[in-house]
Amino acid sequence: MTGSLSGSLARLGDVRGRRVLVRSDLNVPLDGSSISDDGRIRASVPTIRALSDAGARVVVTAHLGRPKGEPDPAYSLRPVAARLGELLGRPVAFATDTVGESATATVAGLQDGDVAVLENVRFNADETSKDEGSRGGFADQLAGLADAFVSDGFGVVHRRQASVYDVALRLPHAMGTLVAAEIDVLRRLTVDPARPYVVVLGGSKVSDKLGVIDNLLGKADKLLIGGGMVFTFLAAQGHQVGRSLLEEDQLDVCRAYLQRAQESGVEIILPTDVVVDTTFPSGDREPTPDVVAADAIPADALGLDIGPESGKAFAAALSDARTVFWNGPMGVFEVEAFAEGTRAVAQALTQVDGLTVVGGGDSAAAVRQLGFDEGAFGHISTGGGASLEYLEGKELPGIAVLER
Ligand code: 3PG
Repeated sequence: MTGSLSGSLARLGDVRGRRVLVRSDLNVPLDGSSISDDGRIRASVPTIRALSDAGARVVVTAHLGRPKGEPDPAYSLRPVAARLGELLGRPVAFATDTVGESATATVAGLQDGDVAVLENVRFNADETSKDEGSRGGFADQLAGLADAFVSDGFGVVHRRQASVYDVALRLPHAMGTLVAAEIDVLRRLTVDPARPYVVVLGGSKVSDKLGVIDNLLGKADKLLIGGGMVFTFLAAQGHQVGRSLLEEDQLDVCRAYLQRAQESGVEIILPTDVVVDTTFPSGDREPTPDVVAADAIPADALGLDIGPESGKAFAAALSDARTVFWNGPMGVFEVEAFAEGTRAVAQALTQVDGLTVVGGGDSAAAVRQLGFDEGAFGHISTGGGASLEYLEGKELPGIAVLER
């Protein structure tokens, strides 16, 4: 066991025997108490292992879901801690609170190289408080458990929260290897990306993607739009969208984007056909998908995926790309009948000769659920909101604070 660390962690110096608090993003989807996608836990392992191997006493803090600022067993990190132990191949202690008696005793019991996980940091209302004083008081307690801090929860670096931001003001700190790798890739997307630079956006709401579309209209060469948000764009072009998801209050914004894209030479590609269903969600019944033209969606139909012609057109638009960023599934990929569009985009990304970045929990989960080899993509980001905010050009509080 050596005390030295490399890369972004090297600035901590010798960590042997020191208590190092690591903020990880272990916010994984749970089905009851079983983890349906452990991607974020796996992504958190390298930093924790490096610190443990170097002899640090590693104290991991993280959140799960959005509990209401008090303990709620449905959001306990206990199953996550168990999975982390399996992946690390070493025992992981679990504290049943975050800064209370259990946490204090658990941390006091750690030997060099040991790892502990603290209970969900959001069981404490002060973690997410907008009041600096309350947040600071909680951060003092967290900082009291450690001698140094490592920020490795990329999925939360856009949050000004106690365990992400305030604690870094109180302890010697370093960027974890996951955050360093994520920022490195995102920087390559924003600083002189190889062209053509193609962005694929999906997911349900246009309103979630406004900032990023705004920013990308000046940077990307092509913008392919699918997912639920596409129906607001189709409606903005004057088409009927039946019962599909529609954000009426974003129609003017979408019209303005289409206009700006035309003026700035950015190609916005919308689907020409869509997969619809008139009975979805249909309880136990099988879905009854139908393919219709995007400008002829029947009044009783609900659009749930881009159609096969659009899947081919999107793949063709990606074929000569040298840089690709993809955020948001093309349809309700969790249901096989509506997964084909997302599959077509994922498949096309695997053929790209250049940098491909898959951003966002849903797209990353889609890639894994549809059986793609993660290695076929340049980078699968663990952060949805965080990567979008980075691409919007916003300052990420959890990153900016590390530069102090
Ligand atoms: C995520 O799932 O995107 C991150 O874990 C952040 O979670 P939050 O949106 O609840 O802050």
